[in-house]
Amino acid sequence: MLSIQGLTKSFGGNQVLRGVDLEVERGDSLVILGGSGSGKSVTLKCIMGFIHPDAGTISLEGENLVGLEGRARADMNRRVGMLFQHAALLDSLPVWENVMFAPLRFGRVSRRQARKAAVGWLERVGLDEAIANILPGELATGAQKRIGLARAIAAEPDLLLFDEPTTGLDALVGRQIDGLIRSTIGDLGATGITITHDIASARRIGDHVAMLYQGKIAWNGPVADLLNSGDPLVDQFVHGRLTGPIAVPSLPQALA
Ligand SMILES: Nc1ncnc2c1ncn2[C@@H]1O[C@H](COP(=O)(O)OP(=O)(O)OP(=O)(O)O)[C@@H](O)[C@H]1O
Ligand SMILES: [Mg+2]
Repeated sequence: MLSIQGLTKSFGGNQVLRGVDLEVERGDSLVILGGSGSGKSVTLKCIMGFIHPDAGTISLEGENLVGLEGRARADMNRRVGMLFQHAALLDSLPVWENVMFAPLRFGRVSRRQARKAAVGWLERVGLDEAIANILPGELATGAQKRIGLARAIAAEPDLLLFDEPTTGLDALVGRQIDGLIRSTIGDLGATGITITHDIASARRIGDHVAMLYQGKIAWNGPVADLLNSGDPLVDQFVHGRLTGPIAVPSLPQALA
């Protein structure tokens, strides 16, 4: 479904991606793990075309997305739904218009149809019609994430990208969102890529897991192998060990 090869990206002297290779099968749920600043969000933004990679290819069902612009890019992005790390809802639009932003913008539905459809998607993510007319800024973070999720799935995309869907949520809401992501991928027959730091979440959401480290995919395997990968990097990361191949910045004694 998605094939990434040799993806590189630098910002000034900061070489973030140094040759990312990744394959995702149709219908698979892939989780990408990696430390803060390792380039997880940059990778998703390259897929969406928000950031232009320096080199490499990203192909969706055989068609290279790198360098696509204008209508070709818009057509391609319609097949992809994304939940942004900070939900990225539009505060000046009521919840229902946020959910149906793309279908409304591309003129595929009337406002009346869109509102009705939005209520259906909101229910799908466990939200009541009562919030449809509220501005998103008035809602709690968990509800905002759900709205972001409803927006990502409202266009019934083939590929779903979730950037830190549960970060900042309490454990129970986080668990519900994990379940929603898993079931949505299944129900839509979509392919999913989820970024998370949370190992429990990764195990609930993923069929496969890839770990991004120093700009490359350092390990890739089935989720069942995650806790016993035999890979020192993965082992240190998933078990939260301070010693190992991953350099952890040293703290002053008082903070350690
Ligand atoms: N538009 C940009 N301009 C310059 N530098 C950027 C830009 N976007 C990302 N970076 C840099 O790229 C690196 C990777 O950023 P990215 O947001 O992908 O990290 P991440 O793995 O998603 O981290 P986190 O887990 O904290 O979200 C960081 O050093 C960041 O400062
Ligand atoms: Mg990020």
